[in-house]
Formats: sequence, C-alpha cells, structure tokens
Amino acid sequence: MRKQIAAANWKMNLTLQQGETLIDELLSTPHELTENQLAIFAVPFPYLISIKNKLAGKKNVFVAAQNCNNKKSGAYTGEVSAEMLKSIGIQYVVLGHSERREYFSESNAMLAEKVNICFENGMVPVFCCGEPLAIREVDTQNSYVETQLKESLFHLTAEQLTGFIIAYEPIWAIGTGKTATSGQAQEMHAHIRSVLAAQYGNTVADSISILYGGSVKASNAKEIFGKPDVDGGLVGGASLIAAEFAAIINGLK
Ligand code: PGA
Repeated sequence: MRKQIAAANWKMNLTLQQGETLIDELLSTPHELTENQLAIFAVPFPYLISIKNKLAGKKNVFVAAQNCNNKKSGAYTGEVSAEMLKSIGIQYVVLGHSERREYFSESNAMLAEKVNICFENGMVPVFCCGEPLAIREVDTQNSYVETQLKESLFHLTAEQLTGFIIAYEPIWAIGTGKTATSGQAQEMHAHIRSVLAAQYGNTVADSISILYGGSVKASNAKEIFGKPDVDGGLVGGASLIAAEFAAIINGLK
C-alpha cells in the first residue's frame, strides 16, 4: 500500500526559534499518524539538524531539505550538495518546486540530475510538477505535466521509482488561496499515475505517492485527500500554523 503523506514546506519562513516553537505546538496538538502515514517537514537548510533532533524518536516523522545542488561537490559557493545532506542524516529532498523552477531557472534536465544525485546518496526526492495558469487556461496541463515527468524521471529504473513521491502543484493554486477542486486534483493525479503506468507498469505506478499542493488547509484537506489518487499534500502557508497542520495530518486517508 502506498504511503499517505502530509509534507510541510516552510519555504523561506520562520526563525529557528519560531520553527522550534511551531514544532512544540504541533507536538502538543492532537494528531495521529497510522502505520501507513508519514509527516515530512521541509525546513530551511540551517534548521535541518535542530529540527531533526527535535523530532527524533517520533514515529513516521521525517525532515526534508527543500533543495540540493545537481553537482557532486566543488566550487559552487553558497550551494548545498546531496552528500552534505546525507552526512547529516536527511532522507528526503524536495526537488523542482515551482518557485525554484521560476526564480532559480531549474529546468527539467537539471532536475533529472538532481534526482540522480539524491538517489546516489540514498535519499528520496519529493519531485514537484505542475502547470502555470496560462497552460491551464488553454487546457494543455496534461501534456505539460507529462513532459515534466518524462524529462526528469523517465531515465530512472522501475526499482528506483517504486515508492517514489511526486507532488502535483498547479502553480495558479500556490499561495493564492485558490485551491484546485478535489475533482481537478483527482483528474491530474489519475493522469500522472496513468503516464507512470504506461512507462513502468501498474505495480510501480500504484506504489508512488502523489501529493497535491496548492492552498491546502485544514478545511479542504480531507475532501482533497479523500480522492482515490491523492495520497496527501505538500503544504506551504497552512504548515506554519500548528493547529492547521495537525488537522491536515488528521485528514490523511
Ligand atoms: P501553499 O504552498 O500551501 O502556501 O499554497 C504549497 C507549496 O508551494 O508547496
């Protein structure tokens, strides 16, 4: 059975002290993770070790980096490598978030390299895809997302993709308060799964957790996560409020 996942994406928000307080508040707010459910906290690089230590011993709870460099090591001032993340015990890395694609020019080809370097270091990517508004308006989102998947993931083996995590985040719904309807999310998630099944077969496609991202909050999480091909969410704004994120965790199937 594929994992159901509530992933928090703090982006470039909170000081370390605020982040620690948020985790304390969350831990004291009733929420429950069953055997098949995970909570992942994608926090800024400088907080990875502290937040990881704070969550140590919590079952099914992990810390993720929000990015890593596509190169192994070298003269890339200010960058963080996959090997560095591995050396501090990080198991998950968010890759290809639309903000990175847009503001830091991350291409599908570069993301293929980032995916590879994560695997070489034993980490699982949370691979983000999703279309901008202009693409949705002309109804070509299916082929747009399909190209993102093909160009960044289809060089991988079936074994590498088994248990993989994809986040579908329509860009027009990120941080805008404008959520895709649960029907729109299900439609795209089913499309993504069918594209994966055509390439890798049903067993691999069925093992991949596909998260929805874009203005997920306590009030809409259960409805969206209830759809058969939606396996949880990647949550920005609402993950910065303990009560909201606890309720989102409780909304997982
Ligand atoms: P949002 O962000 O929940 O604030 O829309 C989601 C994301 O960008 O991961």
